[in-house]
Amino acid sequence: MAIVSEIASAQSSGMVTKEQQIQAGMVLYNGTCSVCHQQNGEGLEGVFPPLANSDYLMADQRRAVEIVLNGLSGPVTVNGIDYSSVMPAMSQLNDDEIANILTFSLNSWGNEGGVVTTDEVAGIRAVTAIPEGAAH
Ligand code: HEC
Repeated sequence: MAIVSEIASAQSSGMVTKEQQIQAGMVLYNGTCSVCHQQNGEGLEGVFPPLANSDYLMADQRRAVEIVLNGLSGPVTVNGIDYSSVMPAMSQLNDDEIANILTFSLNSWGNEGGVVTTDEVAGIRAVTAIPEGAAH
C-alpha cells in the first residue's frame, strides 16, 4: 500500500493527478469492493450489480459517493437487470480513499468518466451522514 500513502500525501497538498487517483483507487478497489463487484467490475448477475459499463453508476457521480458512504438497499435496476439486495455502508473509508476508488471505477473497464475529489466526498459526507447507531 506504499503507493496509496504516497498518493494520499499528494492529495493532502492538493497536487494529486487523475492518473494517481486511478492508481491508488485500483489498489483500494481490489481490497474493498472486488469481493462483491469482482475484479473485472462485472459483478454477479442478479446478486451484485456491475460497475463495468453500469448505466446506474455513470448516470450520477454524487449518488455513487452516497452509496459508498451510506450503502444501498432495496430494488435497483442496473443495465436492465433488477437487483434487490443490500450493500453495506463503507463509511470507514476516508474521503481520499472514496474519491480514489470512485475515480478508478468511473475510468475503468470501458467506463469513461470524471474525477471525484476529496472535497466533494467530504461535502457529501457532511450532509448525508447516517447518525451513529442508526439501522441501515
Ligand atoms: C458486500 C458486497 C458489496 C461490497 C463489498 C460493495 N458492494 Fe456495491 N453493491 C452491492 C450490492 C448488493 C449492490 C446493490 C444493492 C441493492 O440491490 O439495492 C451494490 C450497488 C452498488 C452501486 C450501484 C449500482 C451499480 O452497479 O452501479 C455502486 C455504484 C456500488 N455498489 C459501488 C461499490 C463500491 C465503489 C464499493 C467499494 C467501496 C462497493 N460497492 C462495495 C454489494 C457490495
